[in-house]
Amino acid sequence: MDKIAVLDFGGQYAHLIANRVRRLGVYSDIFDGEVSASELKDGGYKGVILSGGPQSVHEKDSLQADSGIFELGVPVLGICYGHQVISHMLGGRVDRGEVREYGLATVSILNKGEVFEGLENEEQAWMSHFDQVVEVPSGFEVSASTSDCPIAGMWDAERRIFSVQFHPEVTHTPNGMKVLGNFVGICGAKKEWSIEKFIEQEVATIKDKVGDKKVFMLVSGGVDSTVAFTLLEKALGNDRVFGLFVDIGFMREGEVEQVTEALKGLGITNLRVEDAAAEYFEALKEVYEPEQKRGIIGKLFLDVQKRVFEEMSLDPAEWILGQGTIYPDTIETGGTKHADTIKTHHNRVPEIQALIDAGQVIEPIAQLYKDEVRGVGEKLGLPHDMVWRHPFPGPGLAVRCLCSEEEVGDVEDLSELNSKISSEGYDAIVLPVKSVGVQGDVRSYQHPVVLSGGEKNFEKLEAASIALTNSFAEVNRGLYLLSGDVEDLELKKVYLTRERIAVLQKADKIVMDFLYEKGLEKAIWQFPTVLVPLGSAGGSGESIVLRPVESEEAMTANFYKMDFELLEELVGRLEKVEGVDAVFYDITNKPPATIEWE
Ligand code: XMP
Repeated sequence: MDKIAVLDFGGQYAHLIANRVRRLGVYSDIFDGEVSASELKDGGYKGVILSGGPQSVHEKDSLQADSGIFELGVPVLGICYGHQVISHMLGGRVDRGEVREYGLATVSILNKGEVFEGLENEEQAWMSHFDQVVEVPSGFEVSASTSDCPIAGMWDAERRIFSVQFHPEVTHTPNGMKVLGNFVGICGAKKEWSIEKFIEQEVATIKDKVGDKKVFMLVSGGVDSTVAFTLLEKALGNDRVFGLFVDIGFMREGEVEQVTEALKGLGITNLRVEDAAAEYFEALKEVYEPEQKRGIIGKLFLDVQKRVFEEMSLDPAEWILGQGTIYPDTIETGGTKHADTIKTHHNRVPEIQALIDAGQVIEPIAQLYKDEVRGVGEKLGLPHDMVWRHPFPGPGLAVRCLCSEEEVGDVEDLSELNSKISSEGYDAIVLPVKSVGVQGDVRSYQHPVVLSGGEKNFEKLEAASIALTNSFAEVNRGLYLLSGDVEDLELKKVYLTRERIAVLQKADKIVMDFLYEKGLEKAIWQFPTVLVPLGSAGGSGESIVLRPVESEEAMTANFYKMDFELLEELVGRLEKVEGVDAVFYDITNKPPATIEWE
């Protein structure tokens, strides 16, 4: 089979590049960024793609490719850090840009030949970078530019080396697949790869890996674990796969009953539901730091599984643990050699990682993204509603219920930052809470900025949000105030309690009911509701943030621009919930913010 090699420099989208190439029908393998050119030569690769990465080429010991890859005689494509590394290695120059670019940018296409064939003069493209190429190596020509990044693309026509600062592999670069398709064409690779091929190969891999053991599978009722469960059953038969559904106490209202029914409806009866809510609340009662929360939640899954094993008198030697892990869980946890940890997913905590390293875990869809998992689900004949269920994170509402150990008084002074922002003409206030973001392939944990007043126009609000997050390193998220008085809000010292989760469950249920009532469940890919410990002075209320996003595979996302009249109706319903003092709308894309707040 013809194949293309992707060299991974630790970028969040390195693996996504391989996924896209496979989507184009061409098989693709991922290698460490520093793989030797001779290994690629021996593998007969038809082309090489250099991924993005969190580093700067100027850092000590920064990663470089083997210079022999430029002598292999096959086309090379560099993306983001890959673009910078090509310039750096072949005699060009890379500097730190004056303005950082995260999210959407307009790219002028200066040369429409070869990789840019079929593109318009101006294209929308997704960016996530600090550094930029400021001088092309000899033999290269500039092929694309943005207002903040004059060398957003370059090529050497003779040596067939192409590179771009933007990310053609993400769905938020609308014509990105054309660029990758052109490159695959330039490589002359034959299209011999498909989802059916994946299922066929994976069934064989499962049989081989599980041998004569059985699989004890952690299920959540979501698309990933259900597809993984079905694939395991297809390979091993019903009697060799057992499901455990743990109610961690941070589920949506009615979720436990719904999930149990849905799984039974699929004929999954070899299932146990375990109520572990009390253990979870107890373990998390004084925790506010998001990564600590995530670590505890992931480890508890294993503790509960072990307890159930003992209660059911199962012999651990006969079983292997199954998980519905998908690729973003691994990459965001920093699970590849050069990647930064953005957030630790519940199925990637150190205790589970140790079992994986010991070969005691099977994860049949670990190399796939959500959109591919859905493709596999459809091919396996799962019901449409199950396949298209909105994603819900393993740690549940726990990562949507922000905690704080600080109160007003001991919170950091944001007045200087606020004056700087208002001196640039924004009617905006930075909030004394923090959330997680991903900027230039690196985790950020920074403040949201609230825009209030002004025109109710999401395009303008998006532009302001992009400008603020690009210009101020202390800010990684933009919000729009829908209800309440931002001047009146102060920080509360609060942790994860049943009372707070109950308020969030109520608000979340209103949002979910609204989503289906208005028929928005297809347009919106995922709709988290977040409880933030900012409430009116002296009271016990808090704030709600609405975070509807559009995405395909969660690696990039943009906030959903809801009709304001509809939004007012939703806000009216939320204002009636006791304990809700203010309602915000999250107007940030990914990057710079992640979908979930923690
Ligand atoms: P972020 O917030 O990183 O989320 O943009 C990307 C997608 O992953 C989901 N998510 C998780 N899913 N376990 C999961 O099964 C986790 O620990 C976890 N954390 C985030 C999130 O809901 C979104 O769809």
